[in-house]
Amino acid sequence: MRRKLVVGNWKMFGSLEGNRTLLEGLTAGIGDVAAEVAVCVPFPYLAQARQILNGSGIHLGAQNVSEHFPGAYTGEVAACMLREFGCKYVIIGHSERRHGLHETSKTVAAKCAAVEASDMVPIVCVGETLAEREKGATADVVMGQLDAILSRPDIDLAEAVVAYEPVWAIGTGQTASPEQAQEMHALIRGRLAEKLRNNVSILYGGSVKASNAQALFAMPDIDGGLIGGASLKASDFLAICRAF
Ligand code: PGA
Repeated sequence: MRRKLVVGNWKMFGSLEGNRTLLEGLTAGIGDVAAEVAVCVPFPYLAQARQILNGSGIHLGAQNVSEHFPGAYTGEVAACMLREFGCKYVIIGHSERRHGLHETSKTVAAKCAAVEASDMVPIVCVGETLAEREKGATADVVMGQLDAILSRPDIDLAEAVVAYEPVWAIGTGQTASPEQAQEMHALIRGRLAEKLRNNVSILYGGSVKASNAQALFAMPDIDGGLIGGASLKASDFLAICRAF
């Protein structure tokens, strides 16, 4: 179902003590937030986060998952394990994995299927690099990433979330303008509609902060945000959550 949603992506940050401060700050302040809120934490902290968030209404998520069912895959984490730890969401295809760790669109699609098979909601990240934008390839790149998912008949995207995250805006302080983001969101929405996937929420990600969230979230096809750096401090993250 299309919904207003703000998701924190902690990336590879956190400590038991720091997480407690952050999560208790979030649970204390979440009361007046109208949007759905989730935090995607590193694997080792899922149990701690689950316990602190219990009953708060804030959802839990992970940042990656194996494409495989449980088996001999040393170091990997299966979707059913994340489900067992209370995850609702799993981020897949983040650019830091596509580019830094050479994850292909085919692998991302397989992970998407694995997440759905375990009754969780995939947050599928798509986005172009600066070089791709400068040569006018933005739409082709993003549609290609999306089509890898849409071409698999076993993925239904009934509850899914897509996050448009231009790579040049992630962690750089350089946000896409609301108009630039809206243009891509409308394109993504159009492609999803062609394939009858009309319930997908589309988040914007890339240097979202309290000062720019309101203008971004006011755009008709932006349903919320995927927040990296600004999700690591409770007051900053809550201010973004209140931007609706
Ligand atoms: P940022 O990261 O908000 O720090 O730019 C967003 C993301 O990588 O999901």
